[in-house]
Amino acid sequence: MRKIFARSMTRFFRFVADTFFAKRYGHRAVVLETVAGVPGMVAGMLLHFTSLRKMKTGYGATIRELLSEAENERMHLMFFIEIAQPNFFERMLVVIAQISFGLFYLLLYLIDYKTAHKMIAYFEEEAVLSYTEYLALVESGVTENVAAPKLAIDYYGMKPEARLIDLIQHVRADEQHHSEVNHRFAEGRDF
Ligand SMILES: [Fe+2]
Ligand SMILES: [Fe+2]
Repeated sequence: MRKIFARSMTRFFRFVADTFFAKRYGHRAVVLETVAGVPGMVAGMLLHFTSLRKMKTGYGATIRELLSEAENERMHLMFFIEIAQPNFFERMLVVIAQISFGLFYLLLYLIDYKTAHKMIAYFEEEAVLSYTEYLALVESGVTENVAAPKLAIDYYGMKPEARLIDLIQHVRADEQHHSEVNHRFAEGRDF
């Protein structure tokens, strides 16, 4: 049941993203990364509150892992905003998505956190696929292999001449990691 719901939501959001962006991967990355930064922060905040409320230790490592996921996604946004600038319509979409997805995720997490993590694990798998498609377009020359932003070079410790291809590979590895972490949390936390 949990997996079916998580899978259906993933298919739904994938359909929405495909409809809006098609092959415009730069724009797709910018808008979706604004959403990707939400779940880790919501979950981290809720666990932080739980720890305060129950006056119990043992939450620290998980809270830090969730918040670091949110921070990592926010950095992805900062990299891709230098690659593609969203238009007015996309900026509106970001505002609407933040409010609606933020509330949806908050509620889902309160109702059943395992489903919430499972859904994010699947989202992250989709992100890996999308970045793989983006990578193929850059490798084939359809999308220009521009220089990687300085911010990304510093963040990943890439060589100064790093290009978009290198950046996408690093980001994709992050998404793969998020997927594994969320699959793990979906199996249950220790508290
Ligand atoms: Fe991301
Ligand atoms: Fe991610």
